[in-house]
Order: sequence, then C-alpha cells, then structure tokens
Amino acid sequence: MRRAFSILRITSAGPRCVLRATRGAVRTRPSFLDLTHKIQLKLPPTHRDVGQVRDKAVAHIIVVGNEKGGAGKSTVSMHVATALSRMGHRVGVLDLDLRQRSVGRYLENRQRHLQDLGLTLASPRYQELPEVDKANLAPGENAYDHRLSKAVAALEPDCDFILIDCPGSHTRLAQVAHSLADTLITPLNDSFVDFDLLARIDNDGEKIMGPSVYSEMVWSARQLRAQAGLPPIDWIVLRNRLGAQQMVNKMKMEKALERLSKRIGFRVAPGFSERVVFRELFPRGLTLLDLKDIGVKQLNISNVAARQEVRDLVKALQLPDVEVNF
Ligand SMILES: Nc1ncnc2c1ncn2[C@@H]1O[C@H](COP(=O)(O)OP(=O)(O)OP(=O)(O)O)[C@@H](O)[C@H]1O
Ligand SMILES: [Mg+2]
Repeated sequence: MRRAFSILRITSAGPRCVLRATRGAVRTRPSFLDLTHKIQLKLPPTHRDVGQVRDKAVAHIIVVGNEKGGAGKSTVSMHVATALSRMGHRVGVLDLDLRQRSVGRYLENRQRHLQDLGLTLASPRYQELPEVDKANLAPGENAYDHRLSKAVAALEPDCDFILIDCPGSHTRLAQVAHSLADTLITPLNDSFVDFDLLARIDNDGEKIMGPSVYSEMVWSARQLRAQAGLPPIDWIVLRNRLGAQQMVNKMKMEKALERLSKRIGFRVAPGFSERVVFRELFPRGLTLLDLKDIGVKQLNISNVAARQEVRDLVKALQLPDVEVNF
C-alpha cells in the first residue's frame, strides 16, 4: 500500500512558523492539505500501522538528525546502514549534507576499497539527490523538496530501509526529512552544550526549563505526520563519544536525558564510547563489522566492545522485521 500526500507550509521561516501555520490551519482551515504551497512526498505506513501489517514494497525511513554539528550523525548512519545491509536488508542511503557528503564519501570509499580487494560485501545503495529543472516548478514550489521526493521515490521500490543522514544545521531539506521519519535517531555528544539544542536547563543542570530549537522542530514534524494520519515518529536519542570514567557530568547528562525523554517523548538508546575504530575505517569505507571479512583474525577488546555497542543500538531501534544476528 502506498500513500502520497502533501505537506504544506514547510516554510523557510523555521519551525515556529511551521508550528503556528499548522495549528492555525487545523483550527480555521480544514482544507489545509489542499493549499498551493505543497510538496508531493511519498510517505510509508510502518509496522505500527493499522493491523500491524507491513507491506514489503514500502521502505521504512530512518532519519539521523541533530542540528548540532559533529554529534556523530554520519558515524551512526554508516554503522546502522552497513549493519542492516550485512543482515540481508536492502538499504538505501541519502546524504542531505550536500557539501560535506560524509556518508556519500564513505560509501564511495567502500566501493573503491572492496574493488581493490576483489571482495564483495553487503553494502547500502547510495543515492544522490537528483537535479530538478527549476523551469518546471510551479510558483512557490521548492526545488529541494522535489529533489528529496525524487530521491526517496528512486530508492523506495528496491529498499526495505532508507537511511537519511542530515546536516549539522537547520536546513529546509533536513526539516522536511524529519517529517518523513518512521524512526529518528539523534546522536548527542555527552555535553550540555549539545543537550542545549534539545532543552534549556537551569544552572545546576537539574531542572528542565523548556524545549529548545531542535525538539521544537521534531515536534512540528510530528504534528505534520499526525495531521496526515501517519504513525508517530519513533524518536531515539543516543549519547556518543562517552568517556570511560564515571564523571559527574556523565551522570548529570544521564539523569537530564532520562527526565527529558518522558517530557518530550523519545527513547534513550545505549550509546557509543569514544573509540578510535569509529573513525579510523572511514578511508576504506569499512565498519568494524566488516573486519573479519577482510581477513582480520582476532578483534581486539576495544573492537569487540564497539561491535557490542553497535549491536545494542540496532537492537534498541526495534526496526520492523530486523532480528539482530551479528
Ligand atoms: N564514538 C566515536 N568515537 C570516536 N570518534 C568519533 C565517534 N563518533 C564520531 N567520531 C568522530 O567525530 C567526528 C564527528 O563525527 P560525525 O562526522 O559522525 O558527526 P556529524 O554529526 O555527522 O557531523 P556533521 O554535523 O558535521 O555532519 C568525526 O571525526 C568522527 O570520526
Ligand atoms: Mg555528518
């Protein structure tokens, strides 16, 4: 079953404006979904949909997002996408950071390295955002919306999962992608500077004063989905680059996240520790899950622990029809 519908008023003015427009529309304009500023996006039902029936022809969309730069989005994207591919799932990948293209570069490196080795390993399929001819757009239509829509449509027929890696800033592409998310993963450095994008807290780091810019953006994406009759986003936050020691800051972060998760509705997944292996394999396009296949006989203790962290994360995602077997 496939559904196409329009999301409206995703304006460049930002989440607050979207929120206001959305709320206003619900109250005063039942025909909100028929207004002219619209983008056509194919949005999948998920396993949480009516009757828990999942049509294999529709991909489950995983968005990895956080407006904070360097939080670990691309690292998480590479590992989750590769892990799913290695488990036999068909995975498509989009990189919305059109400038850095970290995940795009990673998958190019992977292809080249495997070619050099003469090896075939299960790999995600990378899809560039197709160009659109602006001359063909109707007044008010946005070229980026069309590019994203086309890219999703290109992957969907052949993918069980589409993973979308977002840039570390607020962009229209990222905002629209969030409303497509069946699952949203937000990595977060273990620092209150990163936490600040989720919520404002008091000076002691104890009391939550209110949601912050990124949470508000997710909230507006949730509103849009609810209006369109789509299942809610399953939002998972994970802490990245965790230090080995039990520092006061680490415990404070843990408590603050736990409290916030109940307030704004996300699940906290086990995080990734600070480990060299999470960054050293990029030039070869590998993950630590591939090491045995390229001839590494014995994983060291840190690599074994890192593999466990990736496994725990993929389990915590509770993705449809995924049985973690690595
Ligand atoms: N758990 C980790 N251990 C060690 N290094 C890490 C870990 N996670 C990420 N890094 C490193 O931190 C840096 C930032 O990570 P990454 O590029 O994944 O973040 P990002 O959120 O995608 O950044 P951007 O917002 O710029 O897209 C990279 O150099 C990456 O290799
Ligand atoms: Mg990135």
